[in-house]
Amino acid sequence: MKTVQFTQMADGTAAEYAFLDRLEDDYKAGLVDRILVSLERLNQSLSGYRVSRLEHCLQAATRAHRDGKSEQWIAAALLHDLGDELAPYSHSEMAAAILRPFVSDEIYWVVKHHGIFQMYYYAHYSGGDRHAREVYRDHQFYQSAVDFCHHYDQNCFDPAYQSERLEFFKPILETVFAKPRSFDEEHSARYGKR
Ligand SMILES: [Fe+2]
Ligand SMILES: [Fe+2]
Repeated sequence: MKTVQFTQMADGTAAEYAFLDRLEDDYKAGLVDRILVSLERLNQSLSGYRVSRLEHCLQAATRAHRDGKSEQWIAAALLHDLGDELAPYSHSEMAAAILRPFVSDEIYWVVKHHGIFQMYYYAHYSGGDRHAREVYRDHQFYQSAVDFCHHYDQNCFDPAYQSERLEFFKPILETVFAKPRSFDEEHSARYGKR
């Protein structure tokens, strides 16, 4: 079979869906390569800073690595602004969604909320509420998000910092993205496969 025969999913057969599952598994195996391509494109996004968005992400991941953080945290630091290109109004959620099956609940939560936590550093200069993150003050991961933004985000705009290159992180991403943690039956039932 080169392609399925159906033109609407309602007409698909078990054999056709088994065939599509095999192709999908092959495609998933290229996830890390596609993430790296997306990260490379951040080289051209958001001007005005002293470093590109890619360099910002490399700096965040390098600092996490040099601090001895886990591979999941390093991957989170590297990907945290991956959504800047396609989700300028919800970039935190986009990165969190990509990471979600592969990282702990804590890391997922921190990446998902890093945007509002990061506002602490600048929102008051443009009429916003720098303390907006206080709505999460009693959340179990509040301090973790504060720390992430302080050590691996707000300080990662330094053109003099010697970051590792993107290739350095490929083996780390291969490890983190090797097996989806939460892509179990419950997850499939809730989100579907296609
Ligand atoms: Fe961000
Ligand atoms: Fe950032």
